[in-house]
Amino acid sequence: MKKILVTGGLGYIGSHTVVELQNSDFEVLIIDDLSNTTMTVLDGITAITNKKPNFFKIDLKNKDAVANFFKENKVDGVIHFAASKAVGESVKQPLKYYENNINTLIYLLQEMEQNKVKNLIFSSSCTVYGQAKVLPITEKAPIKIAASPYGNTKQIAEEIIADATKVSDLKAIALRYFNPIGGHDSILIGELPIGEPQNLIPYITQTAAGIRKELSIFGGDYDTYDGTAVRDYIHVVDLAKAHVVALQRLFTKKQKAALEFFNIGTGKGSSVLEVIYAFEKANNKTLNYKIVSRRAGDITAAYADTTLANKELGWKSELTLEDALRSAWLWQEELKK
Ligand code: WQD
Repeated sequence: MKKILVTGGLGYIGSHTVVELQNSDFEVLIIDDLSNTTMTVLDGITAITNKKPNFFKIDLKNKDAVANFFKENKVDGVIHFAASKAVGESVKQPLKYYENNINTLIYLLQEMEQNKVKNLIFSSSCTVYGQAKVLPITEKAPIKIAASPYGNTKQIAEEIIADATKVSDLKAIALRYFNPIGGHDSILIGELPIGEPQNLIPYITQTAAGIRKELSIFGGDYDTYDGTAVRDYIHVVDLAKAHVVALQRLFTKKQKAALEFFNIGTGKGSSVLEVIYAFEKANNKTLNYKIVSRRAGDITAAYADTTLANKELGWKSELTLEDALRSAWLWQEELKK
């Protein structure tokens, strides 16, 4: 049974990926510093799969702790999620983002090389494209100057990995996520925003639950069919499954370059208003919202061209926007208990 280290494995996308890895008979070891999650997520994973992953509370900024982990644990591959990911916060605290998202990657890559761990899946983001000129967005779309330090850390990380693959046996796949939403159908794991949610879906579910008074729609004057911004909302379980097929591509040596990129989305764009209407219909709820001014740093529209992932990974999203919005609401209700 191949052993996989998942950094940030108690996070939102990380935890859903751990479940799919275990369902595909990988043995999973998790490193998480618990800075943006809780140990209850480990209980949730274990309850779903009946297999408790080995958990290590490690801050990847602690170089010695990372070295120690690799000295004591032989792994066949790494999926690297651990990073700070709030766009707005990164503008206010850029150095925290460069330290936490870049230094940690360097220490991880150094120990992987030292210990001959050659397979890496990296959690990247469609943010690297900025506002793409052509939609849907392919992997060949130009990388734009990042609109935030968070987005810049993803671009820099991809370049660091590319350079590392040129001087070692490292093989890597960077998955550029669009907008992950929803939760596992067991309602045992889901999105756990700590404090006021930055992202749309947790803000919607907290408004519907009465935790937030009303949802502010950031901008009604975009050049889109209804004036609200368009994104590609992908069910987090579909996204999690993409990591498993990407890992299997590396283990079966099917990759065509030392570092490959894949856009992971549904290929469909939905406006904020369309998401709200879909949420209301899927959950028979009425949402309180108002349109306010645009949020700094937001782009008008982004949705993926998923041809490459469909063809090369044999992966495509299967769950719908409504499935994701239903699961997000059920999870919100669960959190209230
Ligand atoms: C979606 C849309 C907002 C909240 C970010 C990161 C990206 C990835 C996903 C990590 C936008 C609008 C939001 C609200 C709103 N994160 N919105 N009211 O900004 O597309 O992407 O999260 O990898 O890298 O950039 O996601 O959910 O914040 O916003 O109107 O209260 O919803 O303006 O149009 P975003 P989001």
